[in-house]
Amino acid sequence: MASRMARASAADGAGFPFDGAAVRANFPLLDQANGRGQPLTFLDSAASSQKPAAVLEAIDDFQRRDNANIHRGIYALSERATARYERARETVAGFIGADPRECVFVRNATEAINLVAQTWGRRNVGSGDLILLSEMEHHSNLVPWQMLAEEKGAALAHVRVTPEGGLDMDHLDALLRRGPKLVAVTHVSNALGTVNDVVEIVRRGHAAGATVLLDGAQSVPHLPVDVRALGCDFLVFSGHKMLGPMGSGVLYGKLALLEAMPPFLGGGGMIGAVGLERSTWAAVPAKFEAGTPAVADAIGLGAAVDYLVGLGMERVRAHEREVTAYGLARLGEVPGLTLYGPTDAAARSGVIAFSLAGVPARGVAAALDAENVAVRAGHHCCQPLMRALGIDALVRASFYVYNDEGDVDRLVAALATVGRGERVPGAAADGGACREAWSGRVAAVGD
Ligand code: ALA
Repeated sequence: MASRMARASAADGAGFPFDGAAVRANFPLLDQANGRGQPLTFLDSAASSQKPAAVLEAIDDFQRRDNANIHRGIYALSERATARYERARETVAGFIGADPRECVFVRNATEAINLVAQTWGRRNVGSGDLILLSEMEHHSNLVPWQMLAEEKGAALAHVRVTPEGGLDMDHLDALLRRGPKLVAVTHVSNALGTVNDVVEIVRRGHAAGATVLLDGAQSVPHLPVDVRALGCDFLVFSGHKMLGPMGSGVLYGKLALLEAMPPFLGGGGMIGAVGLERSTWAAVPAKFEAGTPAVADAIGLGAAVDYLVGLGMERVRAHEREVTAYGLARLGEVPGLTLYGPTDAAARSGVIAFSLAGVPARGVAAALDAENVAVRAGHHCCQPLMRALGIDALVRASFYVYNDEGDVDRLVAALATVGRGERVPGAAADGGACREAWSGRVAAVGD
């Protein structure tokens, strides 16, 4: 198959905005090697990123000095915990240009989408209504809407993906003429790195009378995102993809929308007054934060945002573009390698998806792992996208602030070993369920 990717020159661009190796030194986990002394080359940040010491220290400091339940205790410790939690909310809100009341802490983007589907969706989507998605979506932006559509008798439609890995905007227009209640699309593709023109999608969606949700799981960590500039109604993202903890995430919703929505989960913390038969709800965002939240994780997310702000999101974006351009140029020279994604280098994030002729994606990943290069392989929780592209699986290298040309060089060197050495059992064939890449091995702690 011919390369679908325009080759970008390693000499493109104005140079690296910051020193990836200096940034890498802030990430303790990355300072490790395998038994053969090969340094860890971590290229799976689109799945989960690593944490700088500042984030680890913020979590540890909270646990050691300020740990107590929030919004409940009339004592100094609880008030400090509450203040740190709410300060984290203000930090995150400022990062995306939102009001703190518009930012609900959740576990991850998946939970945020389910929250919208089960509250806004159940109230606003009825029999025969249309929910407009795309073929590019992660399963987390497909399955919650399938569940809602089945319950309500609503219809689903999907904007087509072009052979270059973009969204077919003419098809979007055609589907918008059917008057969908909701448009829910990803800002950046987790599998291909495509950066969608979401300003235009939001504009067209609103013109068609739809509410618009953006999946920002792969955009908020990597580029400047401002909800007022985007104009979206909802934006969801996960902390663990942006240097923060697993179990932290955010639902942004326009204040009037959140205020009109019924609660998601019921329990302590989200109530106004509780009777035996009926209750009233707290103001947003507390209305959506039932039970004791993951306070330390939210504080860790706030520290991650502080770290990214310190680097500067324009520079983060520019750095990743440089690493990606270098990666495209180097990988484009590997025999038998096919690149996937948009042809316009400016229209992609720090994700490079590829296949290697004659070797299943999981076999490639297993061979790279033997060289201590960590990539993801499989369908990337995007089975419909893989089908649209006519493939079963891809290998994906994803870059972040701590990666540089050295990581690309080690990836390319490791690719030269594919076809030699042992394979992880079960890694020979592609396909399978979402837990696609697990080898079945349980490594001992410290392995
Ligand atoms: N959504 C994550 C990924 O793309 C898990 O790998």
